[in-house]
Amino acid sequence: MRMRRLRQNKVIREMLKETRLNVSEFIYPLFLVEGENIKREIKSMPGIYHFSLDKLEEEILELVDLGIKAVLLFGVPASKDSCGSSAYADDGIIQRGIKKIKSITDEILVITDVCMCEYTDHGHCGIVDENGNVLNDETLEYLAKISVSHAKMGADIIAPSDMMDLRVEKIRKALDENGFKYTPIMSYSAKYASSYYGPFRDAAESAPQFGDRLSYQMDFHNGQEAMREIELDLEEGADFIIIKPALSYLDIIKEAKYNFNTHIVAYNVSGEYSMVTNAIKAGLLDESIIYEKLISIKRAGADLIISYHAKQMAKWIKEGKY
Ligand code: PBG
Ligand code: ZN
Repeated sequence: MRMRRLRQNKVIREMLKETRLNVSEFIYPLFLVEGENIKREIKSMPGIYHFSLDKLEEEILELVDLGIKAVLLFGVPASKDSCGSSAYADDGIIQRGIKKIKSITDEILVITDVCMCEYTDHGHCGIVDENGNVLNDETLEYLAKISVSHAKMGADIIAPSDMMDLRVEKIRKALDENGFKYTPIMSYSAKYASSYYGPFRDAAESAPQFGDRLSYQMDFHNGQEAMREIELDLEEGADFIIIKPALSYLDIIKEAKYNFNTHIVAYNVSGEYSMVTNAIKAGLLDESIIYEKLISIKRAGADLIISYHAKQMAKWIKEGKY
């Protein structure tokens, strides 16, 4: 046997590729900020920007032109308090952002990250008691309220990222009761407590002010536990499940793909983006590393990929480079 027979020219290699990327598989994260006339590069994430709502149109039209089908919204609110009330305010940054995007186009799905850490003064993803414990069931009420407020403004998909137990059930029920039976839930089911989120916390101003997230996000020593998390979220009514981060967790993606008949979304997170982007900028790696790593996520079993590289990848696909 000679394996090189099937590698001998470009045409045969092209025919035999087992994995391909389509632009419609990408979800592009957007950071919305208060204020006017702001398109400001995020220091920790070169090439990624904070946008005020009046600067969104150009960006959204560019995404439409590139064929990107979905954005994932994160907000940096004007004010924070202990219960994250700006997360469910009618005039909150995300609420107005959804409306704004919907007024620009109906060709892009608006997915909203539902969590409290960007909106709480303590930076945790839920309600905290006087001893600093993050309270599960008290938090669920808020997550439901935030989700319904997003759906009311026109959000297409709700993506809870807090890692409280039973939140998918609670959100599903709240959406159904408020007339949003057909609003899907994309749940961050297997979300690990990870240092790869560092640049994001800088971008979203959401770092915990004390302690860490280990009592709610998953322990990265554990793989089987992720299967249990996914199973529970599916039972509670999740329409998609997210695995996050992606690159160091390809084993989890692959195992989930084999175990569950559902839509698997991989989140190629901020730290993964910034490592590669900075290495390319420093001349250490060729930019084709971006394609290689996205292919590896798809090959592992991801159906959809949330990535800060989505625009770059879409441009390359459009140009016919890949
Ligand atoms: C909010 C949230 C985080 C990310 C997505 N949603 C940060 C965190 O949990 O601290 C990380 C995304 C990224 O790093 O790109 N809970
Ligand atoms: Zn959070």
